[in-house]
Amino acid sequence: MTRPGDQDLIERWRGEPAPLLPLLHAFHDRDGYLSDDALRAIAEGLRTPLADLYGTVTFYHHLSREPGGKERPRVCEGPVCRMRGCEAVKDGLEGATGMPCAGRCDEPVPVLVGDRYLVGGPGGALEERPTPLPAPNPGGREECCFAHIRETDRATLAGYRRTGGYTALARTLRELTPEELLDVVERSGLAGRGGAGFPTARKWRAVREAPSPGGPKTIVCNADEGEPGCFKDRVLMDHDPHAVIEGLALAAFATGATQGFLYLRYEYPHTLRILETALAEARAAGLIGRDVLDSGFDFELYIRRGAGAYICGEETSLLNSLEGKHPFPRNRPPFPVTHGYEDRPTAVNNVETLASVPPIVARGADWYAGLGLGAHKGTKLISLSGDVARPGNYEVPLGLPLRELLFDWAGGPGAGRTIQAVTMAGLSGGFLGAADLDVTLDEPCLRSKGSFLGAGGIMVFDDTRDMVAVARQAMEFFAHESCGKCFPCRIGTQRLAERLSGAAGPESLESWSSEVREIGGVMASLSACGLGVAAPLVTESLLERFPDAVARHVDGGAR
Ligand SMILES: Cc1cc2nc3c(=O)[nH]c(=O)nc-3n(C[C@H](O)[C@H](O)[C@H](O)COP(=O)(O)O)c2cc1C
Ligand code: SF4
Repeated sequence: MTRPGDQDLIERWRGEPAPLLPLLHAFHDRDGYLSDDALRAIAEGLRTPLADLYGTVTFYHHLSREPGGKERPRVCEGPVCRMRGCEAVKDGLEGATGMPCAGRCDEPVPVLVGDRYLVGGPGGALEERPTPLPAPNPGGREECCFAHIRETDRATLAGYRRTGGYTALARTLRELTPEELLDVVERSGLAGRGGAGFPTARKWRAVREAPSPGGPKTIVCNADEGEPGCFKDRVLMDHDPHAVIEGLALAAFATGATQGFLYLRYEYPHTLRILETALAEARAAGLIGRDVLDSGFDFELYIRRGAGAYICGEETSLLNSLEGKHPFPRNRPPFPVTHGYEDRPTAVNNVETLASVPPIVARGADWYAGLGLGAHKGTKLISLSGDVARPGNYEVPLGLPLRELLFDWAGGPGAGRTIQAVTMAGLSGGFLGAADLDVTLDEPCLRSKGSFLGAGGIMVFDDTRDMVAVARQAMEFFAHESCGKCFPCRIGTQRLAERLSGAAGPESLESWSSEVREIGGVMASLSACGLGVAAPLVTESLLERFPDAVARHVDGGAR
């Protein structure tokens, strides 16, 4: 049975680009859950088969199908929150359930209640707090993305403009051709900051050169930030939202895109409000929309809220999610640069990548390239959390020694403790051990250790931590978040999690290790996307760097 107002909601969104997610949220927000009637009305309104819609809706973690579901507390169960007693927080809140990492590892343990975020550890009062600003440049190195973020009112248009905001866009539209802009970005050495490190100018040029019959090219800001241990995009969006919007407009100009989406993870409701305000300001000032700054350049930007699924950060899964399809990753080729949103050329870029572009244009390619150390170009935001005195976001020159970041900038581990392990790329880069702390923070060095920098999340574990338990939690996360499309990942993550929990039955150390290596090898070579390829790095690095812990686990749990 339809409710009064259902039709109005459907009419409000039906003609808009990417209407399914906002429509689902409109019903979810209004009713506090998605009823059968709501699903039927949406399926009918968007002419989607009800069975497909049901499958898609139930894939997302945060779309509740039970009355009152939206307001039920959800407690973060990410790796850092597990160290900080998330179970006790959950037990203390009536009706609370767990959720995968919520992207607030610097403020454990976060609790999502409806559209409010509360933070505070076990025993402490839960309260709503704004995202902390990065500490005042502790290393004294020149910054790019964080250079102005700590200034008062930076999140407002007036505050952003006070320190040169939107001058890069204005100058580009006045003085540069798209080709010249591409040249600046290319010479800066900027590469994707969302994980894969693909050269940004090369991606943009491919979109620019691709034909786009029958519709617009698209630029997408990937603000899904679902990787455990990563929370750098949130600080940019919360405190410098106009830098992201300006970066999107510059990307659109370079690629020839006339529409853009910012795809924001569900778990950042406060960020959604900040972005909506900033976008409205930018639109009112003629910086987004038709004929931007009277230049003849049109660029319309839409914000879309995800619904909770780590895989939606993978760019093709994100595109399916935007299009209202089941968010499985797509087979590639073809790649999004030629066949992206609605099968037309699309550039998907990370928040940090886009926010780096306005300062690069304003201050020059050589300036940005020169911020890196040695042969490395530019900077990287690092989210640091876990057993370290000063967790938070840091902007480091690429090539900075990890030890300098951990000890000099962030204060090292607690008194009397030593660092046993750190993760890289959030979780996806696996573990480095105490013997590896002299690595430098850049892809070539980290890859030589079998890891990678990726999106730049580093979680620190001191000598009191049980590394097999940490690895098990990591693998349980990947098993939970595997989309299930391909069997090496769907089954492999489960089998690895079982071996790490001891649930796989009695085994010798040799058979345990060879099985784990074999499963991981199959996953790495046959999985269809980065989740299944990266997950075995957790077990590989555990076996390589913590063989004694593995031996104790197999010995104690199995034989
Ligand atoms: C499982 C998985 C999750 C991902 N999550 C994110 C994410 O949350 N944010 C992001 O920017 N990129 C994420 N990526 C990488 C994207 O697929 C893509 O490479 C990136 O958005 C491109 O932007 P960039 O070139 O600016 O880095 C993920 C990849 C995989 C395989
Ligand atoms: S590797 Fe895993 S997450 Fe990626 S498509 Fe396959 S099942 Fe899905």
